[in-house]
Amino acid sequence: MLVLESVKQAQKALSQTALSNSLALVPTMGCLHEGHLDLVRMAKKLAKKVVVSIFVNPLQFGPSEDFEKYPRHFEKDLELLKSLDVDFVFHPVASDLYPSGFYTSIDTGALGRRLCGKFRPGHFNGVATVCLKLFNITKAHFAIFGEKDFQQLQVIKQTVRDLNSPLEIVAHPTVREPSGLALSSRNRYLSTEEKVAALCIPNTLKELQAYQIKKSDCSVQELTELALASLNPLKVQYAEITVGEDLSLANPSDLICSLDKPRLFIAAFCGNTRLIDNCALRGISS
Ligand code: PAF
Repeated sequence: MLVLESVKQAQKALSQTALSNSLALVPTMGCLHEGHLDLVRMAKKLAKKVVVSIFVNPLQFGPSEDFEKYPRHFEKDLELLKSLDVDFVFHPVASDLYPSGFYTSIDTGALGRRLCGKFRPGHFNGVATVCLKLFNITKAHFAIFGEKDFQQLQVIKQTVRDLNSPLEIVAHPTVREPSGLALSSRNRYLSTEEKVAALCIPNTLKELQAYQIKKSDCSVQELTELALASLNPLKVQYAEITVGEDLSLANPSDLICSLDKPRLFIAAFCGNTRLIDNCALRGISS
């Protein structure tokens, strides 16, 4: 496993590789868990060579967010990636990716401003910008993203489509603990009690998924109210139902069964930890 510590080193090693092999990229911010490792396993099935990037991207954190505190476990991450026989790890420093004079960034438009984007202004512009840089540096043929961050996945698909990036974005289903809690690096902030309380999020998704299948005339408003009631023990930031690929918000009076690719999104605080999750609902094309 080759650890590439600079943009130049990565460009040199990976452009050679990408010429004669298929290359899959798994972009991460490190502090790897089983969810990331599953993305790597998928990458290995898709391509001959795999590069995992580890970079805590300052551009996607707001001024009052946890950039400084974000967990960093580089040596442990390397061990895990070695055990999966990953070919390359790209681990740049911020001053190399964003040298002085760096100016350009991507505007992800309305998609980047709704749901999480409403509460984290600029977050998705930062994600899209760093991902496009990673795509350009690695010249990967595939990049794998988890559906837990479904809005991020859609933002990246939009960026690649709008800017004619040649690589293919591949989605991986959300990986969950046996309890149902979606895996996230931020779960390690949770106390034992908070971890139990957090189960309210996956339980709500599961219950409402079942409810709207049984009740075919269930409206967006009814389901949203049920979600808020069920999430009551937590401090809910939002519970929203979206339509289609661009995740536009559904009208309260719409019936779920009449919608194109409806999805339920939740963001809630468990103590000081912000957790997100989402699931597909049963609409006309799902
Ligand atoms: O999902 C993440 O870990 C990050 O948002 C990503 C895609 C690595 C970009 O920094």
